[in-house]
Amino acid sequence: MADQEARTDGDKRPTEIQAIRWEEPPEGPVLVVLDQTRLPSEEVELVCTDAPALVEAIRSLAVRGAPLLGIAGAYGVALAAARGFDVAEAARALEGARPTAVNLSVGVRRAESAHRAALARTGDPTAAAVAALTAARALHQEDAEASTRMTAHGVALLDELLPGGGHRILTHCNTGSLVSGGEGTAFAVALATHRAGRLRRLWVDETRPLLQGARLTAYEAARSGMAYTLLTDNAAGSLFAAGEVDAVLIGADRIAADGSVANKVGSYPLAVLARYHHVPFIVVAPVTTVDPATPDGASIEVEQRPGFEVTEVLAPQVPVTGAGGGIPVAPLGTQAYNPAFDVTPPELVTAIVTEEGAVSPVTAEGLAELCARSRQT
Ligand code: MRU
Repeated sequence: MADQEARTDGDKRPTEIQAIRWEEPPEGPVLVVLDQTRLPSEEVELVCTDAPALVEAIRSLAVRGAPLLGIAGAYGVALAAARGFDVAEAARALEGARPTAVNLSVGVRRAESAHRAALARTGDPTAAAVAALTAARALHQEDAEASTRMTAHGVALLDELLPGGGHRILTHCNTGSLVSGGEGTAFAVALATHRAGRLRRLWVDETRPLLQGARLTAYEAARSGMAYTLLTDNAAGSLFAAGEVDAVLIGADRIAADGSVANKVGSYPLAVLARYHHVPFIVVAPVTTVDPATPDGASIEVEQRPGFEVTEVLAPQVPVTGAGGGIPVAPLGTQAYNPAFDVTPPELVTAIVTEEGAVSPVTAEGLAELCARSRQT
């Protein structure tokens, strides 16, 4: 049984959203994560004392979103090392917790190789555990810095594409500080335009079936004082047709070498709509989300989630009746198609914005150049 406990009222509450932090109480190191399945109703933290607890938190989407998965994976390795567990075993379990976001394995492998190198150098497990934690902290810090830099590039690109100001931006899923060491990716760009007085409205797709838009992006937008409006995913078409969308900004879980973008299911239809209506479709993501080892969109493994997420509405605060613990909205035994992500081909993406700058048009050569630039810094 994974060692995970919930921390509720009376415990320390950060004033800013803090999705993850490392703590060292006398009983031993722990990884504290905000349980995103409980938002926006409750701000509850999970305290993970071992890697299996973190794997469980990742699978249940208590911890989610590509950059945060990378940070969590690195800290998970550090936790296993600090607690004296088998680091390689923990690393494989963490890496396998979800398949699509490449950041997870990037984070896990970075901490694991720091651990391995320190162990080989010193032969001292304590020094190796410290090296793994240092690597996790560095990744966390770098992600915060990348967020700031990609935000600046994203704002500049928006100003270039939409010189009039008064942007009406449509976003999908959740890409703010809940998924980042900083203020996020796509959401951070929208937030910066809001702070500069140039955001007229943030259109927030609810993001079925798990409602990351309604539960999480609306939560972040409300806390930031942004003008935002929630819509059902299938209302996006009429919104475009009414001329109410100036740009689409989304994040990414994995970007293949050819520029194909895997992101939360529902992103691809938005790209098709954006192209038809001549609206820029912009992807904002750190370079760690670009996977040169994945050649194209067809090679991206898309996570399939359980059908009950579609056949039931999952609301923990209402009476439980369905097999998945939610309220059934389809006849018992209904089969569901529930991919967690879809893939948008590069020709539908106006630009990919990273901390190293933007690629537009999206080409394999342009992306490779950004990755090379990142390795030099
Ligand atoms: O299934 P989730 O909630 O982990 O999916 C998250 C997304 O699809 C995000 O848009 C993506 O990770 C980018 S986060 C900056």
